Amino acid sequence: MKSFKLGIIGRPLTHSLSPILQEYLMKINGMNGVFGKYDLQERELAGFMRKVRQGLLVGFNVTSPYKQAVVAMLDEVEPLARQINAVNTVSEKEGCLYGFNTDIVGFKNSLKKHVDDLSYYEVVILGAGGASYAVALALLQCGVTIFSIVNRTREKAESLAQKMRLIAPGSNFSVHSFAEIQKRPSQSEIIIINTTSLGAWPVVEETPLADSDIFLNAIVVDIVYNPLQTRFLKLASKKAALTIDGLDMLIFQGIAALEIWSRVSVEYEYEAIRALLSENMDSDE
Ligand code: ATR
Repeated sequence: MKSFKLGIIGRPLTHSLSPILQEYLMKINGMNGVFGKYDLQERELAGFMRKVRQGLLVGFNVTSPYKQAVVAMLDEVEPLARQINAVNTVSEKEGCLYGFNTDIVGFKNSLKKHVDDLSYYEVVILGAGGASYAVALALLQCGVTIFSIVNRTREKAESLAQKMRLIAPGSNFSVHSFAEIQKRPSQSEIIIINTTSLGAWPVVEETPLADSDIFLNAIVVDIVYNPLQTRFLKLASKKAALTIDGLDMLIFQGIAALEIWSRVSVEYEYEAIRALLSENMDSDE
């Protein structure tokens, strides 16, 4: 049986579900492994990388706030991760470190689980930061062509839209304020995605959009997974929207990461994983 010593770096890691997810995936795939939490300060990153090169781990996940900082510390970074300048998965081989971004495939798979063909939809992206860029690229790969970018700071939304227009000249990127979206009437074939951290623990009362008619008939997605039912998703559910929470993205990015580390296809039982993670989330609050 293969043995894997894995882990996650970030700060804080108190609420990270990755150890439970990865140890479960390893168990059901007959892998013998451990997955540790490494709560590091920024000045400890270089020393940690050195130890991994020397064999401390065969791979690790990277979470907030180090997804950008690690990029420059690796030997090779896959093109997509380099493009968005964010790495969430690192693999060690013969003293070299390779960087990947499985958040993108994780996000795509979480949507595909619920929606067959995304190309029919207009997508409204709330936020214009690093996560928003990754989400926009993922949706382009899924055939989406009409995007509305909504951000508190309009210049950042304009800048993201301009970057995307250069990447995908055939697509339509428009920029809007939260107030405009808030007032928009309901529309079918629309997906609204929160890519800001509003509503995440500990500021769970926040929401990027208040109660709005735009939620009617919409598909509403939150990349936040703690709490599972953010205030944003609760408001959307009340308007009978189909809601997709951030736990699926966490699950699918984790499966893709374990496939990189183990170099084998990973089997999983979706319902069982969701139940296990949801259980552990409740006891964590
Ligand atoms: P990440 O890389 O995780 O996406 P980021 O680049 O810091 O993080 O982006 C955070 C996003 O959340 C931005 O779109 C930010 O809006 P601004 O560009 O106006 O700062 C958004 N955000 C954060 N706090 C917010 C708040 N209180 N209200 C509205 N938007 C907020």
